[in-house]
Amino acid sequence: MAYIQMKDVSFVYPGGFLAVDNINIEIEKGENVAIIGQNGAGKTTTVKMMNRLEKPTKGDVMIGDMNTKSYTTAQVSRVVGYVFQNPDDQIFHSTVISEVEFGPRMMKLPSEIISERVSCALKLTGLEQFRDTNPYDLPLSIRKFVTIAAIIAMDTEVVIFDEPTAGQDLRGNHYLSDILRTLNQRGKTVITISHDMEFVAANFDRVIVMANKKVVTSGTPKEIFWSFDALEKAKLKQPYISRLCRELGIEGNIIEMDEAVEAIKEKCLLN
Ligand SMILES: Nc1ncnc2c1ncn2[C@@H]1O[C@H](COP(=O)(O)OP(=O)(O)O)[C@@H](O)[C@H]1O
Ligand SMILES: [Mg+2]
Repeated sequence: MAYIQMKDVSFVYPGGFLAVDNINIEIEKGENVAIIGQNGAGKTTTVKMMNRLEKPTKGDVMIGDMNTKSYTTAQVSRVVGYVFQNPDDQIFHSTVISEVEFGPRMMKLPSEIISERVSCALKLTGLEQFRDTNPYDLPLSIRKFVTIAAIIAMDTEVVIFDEPTAGQDLRGNHYLSDILRTLNQRGKTVITISHDMEFVAANFDRVIVMANKKVVTSGTPKEIFWSFDALEKAKLKQPYISRLCRELGIEGNIIEMDEAVEAIKEKCLLN
C-alpha cells in the first residue's frame, strides 16, 4: 500500500469555488516526486490537504495508516512538513535562527538535538552566515531558503516544497538539488511543485501532472516530457533540450543535456 494516498479527494473553498475535483494520488515512501501544472491547476490546494492545512471537502487523505481526518493539523504537520509557496505566509520570527529553531522547540526536543538540527539545516540551505539576520532583510529568494531550513529542522517523514525554484538563480537551484538529494538519502518522501521544467527533468523520479483541478497523469520525467497529449492538456512545454532533440529528429526521449550532447555528436558523425 502506498505511503501517501489521496482517495477521491475534492476541495471547495469557502466561497464555493471548486479547486480540486475528485483526484487520486499515490506516493510511495522515499519517493522524490514533482507536481507540475499551470497556475490555478490546484497544486497548492492539493498539497495543503496532505498536511491538513486544508481539509478535504470529500475523500480521504492517508499518510501511512493515519487517516488525516482523525488528526489535527498540528499532529499531521509533525509527519508532513510543508514549505509555503510564499515565504512571507510562513515566517514570523525576527531572526533566521529563531525561525529555524521554532519547530524543534515546539517538539520539546533536548537543546543539543535542537542545535544540531538547526546547524545541519542552516548548512544544507547555505544560511550559516545569516543566523542572526532578520529574514525580512534578505531577498525573497533567500527568504525561501529560511522557510526550507525551518521545515528541514523538523525532520518530518514527508517534506513538501511549494515552488522552491520560483525566482531562484543557478546557485539557488544547485542548493535545491542538493537538498532534495540529501533528504532522499535520509529516506524522506519529498514532493515538490515547480514550474521549471529543466529542474524537474533533472531532479525527480516521478512527475505528477495536474490541469484544471484534476490529475492528468503521472510517470517518469522521460515519459511525461515526451507525452505530448499530457503536456498539451496541462498547457506545459517540453524542456528546451527535449524540444531541440525533437526538432533534430533524435529519438530516445531525451530530457537532459549530457545525453543530448552524445546523441547530437553521434548524429553529426553519421551525416
Ligand atoms: N482562499 C481561496 N479562496 C478561493 N479560491 C481560492 C483560494 N485559494 C486558491 N483559490 C483558487 O483555487 C484554484 C486553485 O488554486 P491553487 O491550488 O493555489 O493552484 P496552483 O497552486 O496550481 O496555482 C485557483 O483558481 C485559485 O484562484
Ligand atoms: Mg500554487
